[in-house]
Amino acid sequence: MPIQTVQKVLVIGRTGQVAQALGHRGAGRVVNMGRPKLDLRNADSLMRAIDRHSPGVVINAAGFTRVDQAEAEPAEAERLNVEGPRTLALACRRAGIPLIHMSTDCVFDGTLARPYRPDDAPRPLSIYGRTKLQGELAVADALDRHVVVRVSWVFSQYAANFVRTMLSLARSREQVTVVSDQVGCPTYAPALADGLLAIADGLCADHFSQWGTYHLAGSGETDRASLARAVFDISRLHGGVSATVDGVLTADYPTPASRPLNARLDMSLTEDVFGIRMPPWREGLAATVPELLRQLGSD
Ligand SMILES: NC(=O)c1ccc[n+]([C@@H]2O[C@H](COP(=O)([O-])OP(=O)(O)OC[C@H]3O[C@@H](n4cnc5c(N)ncnc54)[C@H](OP(=O)(O)O)[C@@H]3O)[C@@H](O)[C@H]2O)c1
Repeated sequence: MPIQTVQKVLVIGRTGQVAQALGHRGAGRVVNMGRPKLDLRNADSLMRAIDRHSPGVVINAAGFTRVDQAEAEPAEAERLNVEGPRTLALACRRAGIPLIHMSTDCVFDGTLARPYRPDDAPRPLSIYGRTKLQGELAVADALDRHVVVRVSWVFSQYAANFVRTMLSLARSREQVTVVSDQVGCPTYAPALADGLLAIADGLCADHFSQWGTYHLAGSGETDRASLARAVFDISRLHGGVSATVDGVLTADYPTPASRPLNARLDMSLTEDVFGIRMPPWREGLAATVPELLRQLGSD
């Protein structure tokens, strides 16, 4: 596919993990907009942002992302994950520009014995997953020129994430309990941002027509407890905090929201259509841990 570089990308979200990574990796062409200036619940603020910046592509990296909290706040989750994206898609249609909308492995129930492909049947186990799936459908319904990008297990030096949580816990505990039967593809947010920007460029290629749903996740897979152990292995190499990881089964570790045991995402379609190869998750982890140790040390 002949690739052009889209001149300006409007990213919905400012302080979030993926939003920050997009801002850094796309410096010079990414404009981040978040609260208070832009609110997903306020249609006028979405239209004003598009009119003001005239982007070539919009990436929605905002939403209700607290998976357990969504069980207690289903209406707010729906406002941010369904109604907001629908309104944003309509604003993009009015402006004649494409939208990249971020979604999640949590649209699946995790019972398949292989990584999920974009066209596998979704069956969310949680309110978060259900609202994200409804958001995908709302975007598709409102705007032909859309791409839904499902991602999983995102980590980085930015904002709240699993790796930061593990290192924070190890400052006050010798042992942490982590589920060992949830398997996924950890995804380094800066690599994810590069992939999203490559997709944005791909959408602007002449005659692009393969609108629809794609998966973007780090290469390789692991389970949560092994991921935690890898975090502490790297931390020790840098003289940082460490803890013993006590692996438990999800069935013995209840949380308000159920999560898929198999969260692995098959990247084949994204590789074929956009030529994107995601780096191994361990490379991103090796870059993230020392940076987080530096941040946590200065807290
Ligand atoms: N993190 C993961 O492991 C993971 C896994 C699968 C899918 N995803 C998906 O990836 C996307 C990005 O996730 P993330 O991890 O970067 O999330 P995050 O760190 O929790 O950030 C959430 C973002 O949503 C924005 N936001 C919340 N309420 C808003 C509102 N009313 N108006 C405008 N913006 C609002 C926040 O805005 P401000 O900038 O204004 O504070 C923030 O930028 C989401 O669609 C999420 O569902 C993430």
